[in-house]
Amino acid sequence: MHSKTLGQQVAIVTGASSGIGRATAIALAMEGAIVIVNHFPSEDDRINAEAGVREISDAGGRAVAVAADISREDQVEAMFAETLDRFGKLDILVNNAGIERPASIQDMTLADWQAVIDVNLTGQFLCSRAAVRAFLNHKSSEQTSGAIGTIIFVSSVHAIIPWAFQTNYAASKGGVSLFMRSLAQELAPMKIRVNSVAPGAIRTPINHEAWMSDEKMAQLLKLIPYGRIGEPEDISRAIVWLASDAADYVTGTALVIDGGMTLYPAFRGEG
Ligand code: BGC
Repeated sequence: MHSKTLGQQVAIVTGASSGIGRATAIALAMEGAIVIVNHFPSEDDRINAEAGVREISDAGGRAVAVAADISREDQVEAMFAETLDRFGKLDILVNNAGIERPASIQDMTLADWQAVIDVNLTGQFLCSRAAVRAFLNHKSSEQTSGAIGTIIFVSSVHAIIPWAFQTNYAASKGGVSLFMRSLAQELAPMKIRVNSVAPGAIRTPINHEAWMSDEKMAQLLKLIPYGRIGEPEDISRAIVWLASDAADYVTGTALVIDGGMTLYPAFRGEG
């Protein structure tokens, strides 16, 4: 028996050099998983990912940083091959990496559109495909949880709430929503669970401008009936739960974690 929830499991977390990805890597490792801390191949991201790995090992966990641009097929394949080489198997994929390129539609370049779709949607396809191939190669004697593998997508409230000036981002997250559910339907008979979290406004670098000043924060809080911004740990604990056997009967579900943002608070007493 392993005392920790995810003991002996191997997890890849994409985009884990900062924000929700970093918190998720730490949370999975604290539950006993060996974590591949994926990061974009830049010097800054490498330094941040290495810092996360150190934090995990200082706390007694196991993690390694692996660079890969998840929108590139060759780099994704290399990261999964390295994971299988080093650790022999994969149990959990957290499809977290995501970017924003805001612009009005009349100013949005094809490159702005394509970059967001490539990372947020195609990257999640490439990683999911590689993960499923790895799960299906598991021998049942190596199985350490109810499912043979589980995938968790980090989507967004903007799979639900339209987002002006971020039409590329909203389109990518809307795509993730039905990609996730279709994949869940396809893979359930193989005992692979597929779910997503849909975070609202979480205090991370991607939306720094939305919470950096008191004025901005006050504006933001008008959209959040629960009255506070989310913290990365609000999301990472839900991801740990979705990855664990406690969620063994959960597949095809999007868990909205947003302090009520999708409750459309402007309608309170109005409309
Ligand atoms: C975006 C953040 C935004 C939040 C709520 C997220 O998906 O990445 O920039 O603050 O949605 O609007």
